[in-house]
Amino acid sequence: MRKIRKAVFPIGGLGTRFLPATKSMPKEMLTVVDRPLIQYAVDEAREAGIEQFIFVTSRGKSLIDDHFDHAFELEETMTRRGKSLSILDSTRSSPGDITIVRQQEPLGLGHAVWCARRIVGDEPFAVLLPDDLMVGRPGCLKQMVDAYAELGGNLICAEEVAPEDTSKYGIITPGESLGSITEVLGLVEKPAPEAAPSNLGVIGRYILQPEVMDILASQEEGAGGEIQLTDALAQLIGQQRFHGVTFSGRRYDCGDKSGFITATLALALERPELAPAIRAFMATA
Ligand code: G1P
Repeated sequence: MRKIRKAVFPIGGLGTRFLPATKSMPKEMLTVVDRPLIQYAVDEAREAGIEQFIFVTSRGKSLIDDHFDHAFELEETMTRRGKSLSILDSTRSSPGDITIVRQQEPLGLGHAVWCARRIVGDEPFAVLLPDDLMVGRPGCLKQMVDAYAELGGNLICAEEVAPEDTSKYGIITPGESLGSITEVLGLVEKPAPEAAPSNLGVIGRYILQPEVMDILASQEEGAGGEIQLTDALAQLIGQQRFHGVTFSGRRYDCGDKSGFITATLALALERPELAPAIRAFMATA
């Protein structure tokens, strides 16, 4: 079985839910404690063995490229002042690690993934949506890569969502379940609660076979008038193995203000140097 070496990060979205913060700054650079959202996703991917990081971006996202570059003036000054550069370690990518692909038009998640087809080539790959901040040990993608070594095929991260929220997620028709693995018999993007086959939602982590790119090439618009990854994946069911993996850890939906603030508080409370002051404030709030 081929190792999962490449990961696609679809990060072309406008981030209108966070305006005005995201007027000139990519939403993936919004910071939870002291790391931007994109760095959490990149760190998670690196832990899972990813070697090539494919950012599918759009205009106005170049701050993200800079974040993962060397910063000569900063590093030079820190070194002169005797400061350790280790805090920058996971942001100092090596030549060729990161590939930037432009998504010229905002046509949907499926289209964004398809934009990376030439870089992905004919090997299985991961997709990570940085809006879903996954906290766990090992990380979410590592747990999925471990499951992939047993199962192969296509894997999506699966989590039960509130039944009234099915219209925010891809929803799974579940088959047999064993431990954290559930067979996927069907997928539908953002169904109304009354039409949803279950409340088992797709969370933003995928391990996919390259054939999905051929399907995406002719995928028609789906929910919201967008080319949906979920619709392309639904066509693979029955042709290739397909499972959901329940992540052992916590998810914060950072595409939403309350989820983002919750993530900030939760991760700050895990820092010994920050927790006492925050706890003291919360007790008075
Ligand atoms: C995307 C996918 C959806 C998935 C969700 C997870 O939706 O289309 O299937 O459940 O991510 O976060 P979006 O949140 O981009 O609307």
